[in-house]
Amino acid sequence: MPERHATEPLPTPAPRIARLSGARVSLGPWEAPDLAAFAALNADTETMRWFPSVLDRRQSDDAAHRMAHELQTRGWGLWAARLDDGAFIGFVGLAIPKFEARFTPTVEIAWRLGRHFWGHGYATEAARLALDHAFGELALPEVVALTATGNERSRRVMDRLGMTRDPADDFDHPALTIDSPLRRHVLYRIRRPDRLDKTTESAERSPERKDTR
Ligand SMILES: CC(C)(COP(=O)(O)OP(=O)(O)OC[C@H]1O[C@@H](n2cnc3c(N)ncnc32)[C@H](O)[C@@H]1OP(=O)(O)O)[C@@H](O)C(=O)NCCC(=O)NCCS
Repeated sequence: MPERHATEPLPTPAPRIARLSGARVSLGPWEAPDLAAFAALNADTETMRWFPSVLDRRQSDDAAHRMAHELQTRGWGLWAARLDDGAFIGFVGLAIPKFEARFTPTVEIAWRLGRHFWGHGYATEAARLALDHAFGELALPEVVALTATGNERSRRVMDRLGMTRDPADDFDHPALTIDSPLRRHVLYRIRRPDRLDKTTESAERSPERKDTR
């Protein structure tokens, strides 16, 4: 995908982008005012502790554009997460890992919230919405989550979602250098619930084809 930069407006959200609503949090398209809040959280060293570096404004805007365009293309992806009053709190959603590993191709669930919004259960609530969409609408057989081994906060979200880790699945992230302290990653998995298997078996497709087009 070509690089997109701050000067380029976000795409007008396609009507088929899924919009998911929970009791306190909703997931939907990215909007132009989200970019500043997203840049602030990407510049925060504590929020970005388990990533190779903080992002500057341009890197943050590029990341938001990539997520907005993937949502536009597939109808699902890494959604902007909001509270009832419309406040942007970060992103939560589904993505196809771009690197190769024993467990790819697959679909992962991921999250990043501004620090001010930690400790309220928002990430778990939003992730449940994304998982319901993955197993219901998209009929995925499995969703994974991955993070640097030491990222206990993120791992607690995975636990709360009912995801499980087999230490045999631990891996070195191929995008990180051999000397990076973040290189060792854990992999958590969750299978589609049996009750959904019975009704959606015939709809099962490979991760590359989970478009809602
Ligand atoms: C990972 C991350 C999303 C977790 O956020 P979080 O707010 O801790 O997670 P949850 O939404 O599940 O909230 C659970 C916490 O809220 C508390 N909480 C308070 N009110 C609550 C409520 N009404 N309902 C549920 N939980 C509530 C829980 O007790 C729990 O706290 P604890 O973990 O200290 O026990 C957040 O730390 C983050 O964005 N980190 C930076 C990005 C990152 O590392 N992403 C992952 C990279 S792979």
